[in-house]
Amino acid sequence: MKPVHIALGAFGLIFAVATLSPIPALAGDVQSLRGKTEIPEINPTPELTKQRADKGRFTRNYRQQPPLVPHKIAKYEIDLKVNQCLRCHDWPYNVEENAPKVSETHYTDRDGTALDHIARTRWFCTQCHVPQEDAPALVRNTFKPLQRKQ
Ligand code: HEC
Ligand code: HEC
Repeated sequence: MKPVHIALGAFGLIFAVATLSPIPALAGDVQSLRGKTEIPEINPTPELTKQRADKGRFTRNYRQQPPLVPHKIAKYEIDLKVNQCLRCHDWPYNVEENAPKVSETHYTDRDGTALDHIARTRWFCTQCHVPQEDAPALVRNTFKPLQRKQ
């Protein structure tokens, strides 16, 4: 037998032993965010956490940052047909509601065509704009916002 064949044979044997032997410790410890709910079952809605709200707007940390949402959003529906954020943030409603209008970039489609309605690429606001938890940071963070050069 050539050495390469011996090596392959040895690898095969180790592989067979490894796959046959059960590894209960690993399989038992892994948990998804759904907890132990089986896939066909509907998992219970997670409890709503306290959100940082009504303390004015958040400062942006860099130029292209999507601003963080400074109010609660749990009751505002966004699906294929309905987007309740627009009843305050789309022009002209933003004027009556005294809410900041969505950025002009949100009325431009991916080919650069200016539209008179929100671009489909901006429909799901919470893809980019998220509220903040009112809680101390879980992990220590040394991030510093971008500083303007003097
Ligand atoms: C009932 C009206 C209303 C609805 C509905 C609403 N907002 Fe707002 N939103 C406001 C107002 C008013 C402010 C300004 C708050 C302030 O200046 O203190 C604001 C601020 C914001 C800001 C911060 C903008 C900035 O420049 O800092 C974001 C982002 C935002 N909202 C996103 C959303 C999203 C996403 C939704 C839907 C899930 C939504 N809003 C639904 C009224 C609304
Ligand atoms: C793909 C990411 C993305 C999506 C989706 C998106 N935004 Fe934005 N939004 C941004 C970014 C980035 C900015 C800041 C830069 C800019 O003005 O384009 C912004 C800016 C804003 C501002 C501040 C405007 C200003 O002039 O201060 C508001 C309000 C806002 N978005 C609301 C919304 C709402 C409401 C939706 C859903 C209809 C939405 N956005 C969807 C990325 C997004």
